[in-house]
Parts: sequence; C-alpha cells; structure tokens
Amino acid sequence: MAGMWFVTGAAGFIGSNVVEHLLRAGETVVGFDNFATGTRKNVERLQRAGSRFTFVEGDIRDAATLERSAQGAGAVVHLAAQVRVQESFRDYAYNNAVNVDGFLNALKAAAAARARAFIYASSCAVYGDNPALPLRETSDVRPLSPYGVSKLANEGYAAVLDPELAETTLVGLRFFNIYGPWQDARGAYAAVIAKWLEACLRGERPVMFGDGSATRDFCFVDDVARLIAGVGRTNRKRPHGIYNVGTGEKTTLTELFAALADALAASGKRLAFDSPRGEPWRAGDIVHSLADVTRARAELGFAPATDIRAGLGRILALQHGIGR
Ligand SMILES: NC(=O)c1ccc[n+]([C@@H]2O[C@H](COP(=O)([O-])OP(=O)(O)OC[C@H]3O[C@@H](n4cnc5c(N)ncnc54)[C@H](O)[C@@H]3O)[C@@H](O)[C@H]2O)c1
Repeated sequence: MAGMWFVTGAAGFIGSNVVEHLLRAGETVVGFDNFATGTRKNVERLQRAGSRFTFVEGDIRDAATLERSAQGAGAVVHLAAQVRVQESFRDYAYNNAVNVDGFLNALKAAAAARARAFIYASSCAVYGDNPALPLRETSDVRPLSPYGVSKLANEGYAAVLDPELAETTLVGLRFFNIYGPWQDARGAYAAVIAKWLEACLRGERPVMFGDGSATRDFCFVDDVARLIAGVGRTNRKRPHGIYNVGTGEKTTLTELFAALADALAASGKRLAFDSPRGEPWRAGDIVHSLADVTRARAELGFAPATDIRAGLGRILALQHGIGR
C-alpha cells in the first residue's frame, strides 16, 4: 500500500499491538498519543521493533498537530479515546471533547491526507444492555453511558460524512472484549483478564463479581490487528460500514478462570487456589455479551483464530516470558 500508516492511540493496548503487527509486516508507521492512559513503555517497545516507526506525542483535540502528523498517510487507524466508562459520567465534557471532537479531527486529518482508509474504534457499549444475543449490527442500540453515546456519535458522523470523503473508505469496528498482552491491569474497572492474570502471577486470589455465570465474548488482539491491517490495505472505496469484532463464542467467568489456571499450569505455574474470590455483582455491569460476527467475516474476511486458552498462553509467553 502506498503511504504510511497513521495510528492514534499507539501507546495504548490495542494501538501498540496493531503497530507492532504492522511493523512486523514491513509497514511504515507513525504513532500518535498523549499518554492519557497509554504508556511510554509501550512506545519504547515499538521503537525497539524497528526504524520504520515514528512517534508523535500529541493530543487528538489539537486538530492542527493531528493533521500535520497524518500527512502522507495511506491509512488512518483511529484508536485514541477516553476509554473509561465511569470517567465518562464524571467528566462527560472531557469524554465528548476527546471521543467526539477528537474523532472529527482525526477524520478531517484522514481526508486532508487523502488516505485510502479510515478505520476507527467503536464499541459494543453502543448496544447497552440489549438482551437479544448474539448482537448483530442491526440490533437496537441503546448506550447506557456518555462513553457509549460518544462511540455511537462516531458512527453517525462517519455515516453522514462518508459521501463527502470520496477517496476514503470508512470502517467502524464495534469491539467486544479485546484482550492480549500489554493490557492495562490498573483500576477497579480494568479488563478482567489483565486483572486476573496479574493477581494470579502475584500469587493472589483474583476477585470475581457475581456467581461466575456472567459471559463475555473475548477476542484476542492479534486477530484484531490482522483485521485492521487487511482493511487498511484495501484498494477500492467501499460504503461506510460498521462491524462487530468479537469471536461469536461466549465464555463464562468460571470458564475463564479454568482456562487461566490451565494456561498457567501449562507454563509451569500452579495456583494455590482453585477458584476466584467471590464478591456481589456490581450494579450497572452488563451480565451477558456476545457478538454475531457474520458481517465482518463476509465483508472484511475477518477470521478470529485464537481460542481463549491459546490467547492466554500467548500473553504469558510474550508479556511475562513464561512457558512455550
Ligand atoms: N479493549 C477493549 O476491549 C475495547 C472495547 C471496546 C472499544 N475499545 C476502543 O478501542 C480503542 C483502544 O482502546 P484500548 O483498550 O487500547 O485502550 P487504551 O487506553 O490502552 O488506549 C487508548 C489510547 O488513547 C490515548 N488517548 C486518550 N486520549 C487521547 C488524546 N486526547 N489524544 C491522544 N491520545 C489519547 C491513550 O493515551 C491510550 O494510549 C478505544 O477507542 C476504545 O474505546 C476497546
């Protein structure tokens, strides 16, 4: 593909994995991030991965810097966002500035660069607690937080602005529970896999909310990176689309713990406990979540290939240097 890749949120979890994948494929990448939740450690990891990577420290709310940095981009991957649901209630103006204004700045920067593709992160949060599982892109949306509203606004803007962007394919990805190495384990609402792994590796019993029957659709980040790389290499303009990104498989929290214990055992680590420590379910948390990924499979060639045990094993090997 002509032109470099421009990736916002490159210091974050998904962003750093996507950039690493692109660099390994020999692509040239400019990463952009302001370290709101991303880390310098992730950027250093990318800088070690090769000379085809340039990093710009900047804020997506600063339209001029963003546009300048994205010059020459063949594909823009927009992952930077205010990602914390609770924070979006506490400071909804900030959430809106980053997730809506920042999104529009990124879209404008892609148009100015005449990028062939603009791929952006939406979220399963747009569905709220819609119980009609598995969720399809045509299912009712009813976001329950300013965060979910801001992601839905991104999709709405992309749909109405698509005809204005004659040369740019716009693709919105509704991520379900993406997991993998370098995911943030800090904070009460951090992703369950990162939190549980850290606890187990410290020899502490992880905390499970509810009775273990809650379910999630966990999708390994390498599968997401491969999807994004494929979409970014696209050559023809396609109409704006939104796509669920999950596996279509549900995992209960009890099954997750068993898979984690197995992956640790396969890496030579035995746990001193055989179950997580139970705490009452947290009001407001969604109990069940499951994607129907038929559309992404059919239209984008999405093929999630990593099952939960394999994915957990990869985290242990890559991030913690144990096993395999
Ligand atoms: N991880 C998941 O399961 C999941 C699920 C649904 C949606 N998403 C979306 O995927 C994207 C990536 O999420 P992630 O899990 O990697 O989270 P993350 O927090 O690791 O990554 C987000 C990145 O955006 C950066 N950022 C925030 N505000 C910025 C600003 N004003 N200017 C420049 N950079 C800024 C952060 O520093 C961080 O590096 C986000 O848009 C998120 O909403 C993730």
